[in-house]
Amino acid sequence: MIDGLLWQAKACEDLGSPFSAGLLRAAAEGRLGPVDDLFAVWDGQGLGAHIRDATPLRLLGALHYLVLTGEAPALAALYPEASPGIDGPALLAAAREVLATQRPAIAAFMASPPQTNEVGRSLCLAPGFLAIAARTGLPLSILEIGASAGLNLRWDQYRYDLGGKAWGDAASPVLLAGDWQGPPPAETPAVTVVARAACDQSPIDVTRDEAALRLEAYVWADQPARMARLRGAIAVARNVPASLVKADAADWVAANLSSAEGVATVLFHSVMWQYMPQRTQNAVSEAIAAAGAKATRAAPVAHLRVEPDPSREGFPMAVRLTIWPDGRSFHLADVHPHGAWVRWLLD
Ligand SMILES: C[S@@+](CC[C@H](N)C(=O)[O-])C[C@H]1O[C@@H](n2cnc3c(N)ncnc32)[C@H](O)[C@@H]1O
Repeated sequence: MIDGLLWQAKACEDLGSPFSAGLLRAAAEGRLGPVDDLFAVWDGQGLGAHIRDATPLRLLGALHYLVLTGEAPALAALYPEASPGIDGPALLAAAREVLATQRPAIAAFMASPPQTNEVGRSLCLAPGFLAIAARTGLPLSILEIGASAGLNLRWDQYRYDLGGKAWGDAASPVLLAGDWQGPPPAETPAVTVVARAACDQSPIDVTRDEAALRLEAYVWADQPARMARLRGAIAVARNVPASLVKADAADWVAANLSSAEGVATVLFHSVMWQYMPQRTQNAVSEAIAAAGAKATRAAPVAHLRVEPDPSREGFPMAVRLTIWPDGRSFHLADVHPHGAWVRWLLD
């Protein structure tokens, strides 16, 4: 458990959240009081189980949730959202107090897997959709697997700075602008999304305030820009309808993915492939290949994905596109896990 807390502390530091790293280190060193019982379910399972189930993030999420719901006002006053400088000793004392007095709520929060939906990934998905629209000249019908709350399903409702090229609705509450490396995308046409549908094995309905707060709780408290774009995307999702159903990706793709005349059908996903067992991955791959085989110029099919690429050190995620009827594949970009930078590769 201590190894898990320290491993996650290092990851938070590497991903730009010194506040989260500090809290996790304090927990590992016993400065938040005893926390072992909160991790009892994973006892004896080793570091791998803590990383797989993101147990330290559950602890961080639980504290942040109580801060956001107003149930821990003294701690909330010392969190970075309210307090510009971090007062270490006072913060740790307040966190210790919350852990001692709100144990059942914290344990209950930690019993469910983390729920995240990273809107920053739209920054690298968007130019992929734009490339598909430019190549096919057609409106898009988009389908997402592992969509979480479906926030990236509304990618066309956000505004972008794509390496100096602006795209999207200037009035959108969500601005996506990372450190863009390489040339801007060559193609930035106007795009019409005519249908948007998605599945997740645990979908999140952000029209429910409790669900929206759970998503917010998993944003690290010292990353205000991420929080702002999440809140903006939740507001957009509440206005822009999309079908999001509870289903396993293999079943849903088999039932829903097929080419259609007059639209480019795009199946996409981000950071979900690794969570599917091999047989589900195979079934999804086969369904995509079958839909691709039936594609025509008037009814093209595309597969756009942002997934970790562990075989390539230093490039944590790759954006790839395959488009039929040709079946050509493109490595579009390498990206930071939360969209902080994009290294665009396609000419
Ligand atoms: C790390 S989250 C990523 C969510 C979102 N795509 C994003 O980029 O923010 C992974 C998502 O995949 C979903 N998932 C995992 N296995 C799945 C499966 N077999 N079928 C459907 N969804 C699945 C999880 O429920 C979770 O919402």
